[in-house]
Amino acid sequence: MPIIAPSVLSADFGNLQRDVEMINNSKADWFHIDVMDGVFVPNISFGMPITAAIKKHAQKTMDVHLMIVQPERYIKDFKKVGADILTVHYEASTHLHRTVQEIKAEGMKAGVSLNPHTPVHLLKDMIKDLDLVLIMSVNPGFGGQSFIEQSVEKVKELRAMITEAGSDCIIEVDGGVNMETGARLVAAGADALVAGSFVFKSDNPSQTIANLKTL
Ligand code: DX5
Ligand code: ZN
Repeated sequence: MPIIAPSVLSADFGNLQRDVEMINNSKADWFHIDVMDGVFVPNISFGMPITAAIKKHAQKTMDVHLMIVQPERYIKDFKKVGADILTVHYEASTHLHRTVQEIKAEGMKAGVSLNPHTPVHLLKDMIKDLDLVLIMSVNPGFGGQSFIEQSVEKVKELRAMITEAGSDCIIEVDGGVNMETGARLVAAGADALVAGSFVFKSDNPSQTIANLKTL
């Protein structure tokens, strides 16, 4: 049974509390929070105040995905607004090892995300330091994009690397997840699935989450 992390990016921001309660009352495991700066990705979503507003009502793990340049600047801020897991991009942080240690020093789980063009083997020397690797299965920046097929191979490769290293790092996948792609990702070794538009654009988001949970 995979961990299911609905992406709040696809929620109705005018009814944010309602959508947060829907996730609280569903079989979802985590809240996936997408922070974008308009520099690392060609879109701006939201930052600390909205994350704090979600945290105020959220009764589940806050899984924060930073799509911002030099994310090390904001580690303490995201701790303050309630992040439990803080994921930064491999492509956005030059001294990634230090960044990961700083996230852990704040008492959060540390994740690193890989863009579609970034090979898994680049994480080999720090896989034992990571709590989570987030494989992007779309180019980060927007919900509702189509799934990049190569992601399934990346999950398999990462699973083999984690097993070989004896690491307990979790594999999370983000972008274009639905029942069909989700099933293949879980079979390839994914532990956690992010789903935005598939959940929030469905007629019954809570039931869609329950369906994903059966994968
Ligand atoms: C994209 C974000 C995703 C996004 C996924 O940059 O990181 O979390 O919300 O949306 P879907 O599930 O619609 O592809
Ligand atoms: Zn995300």
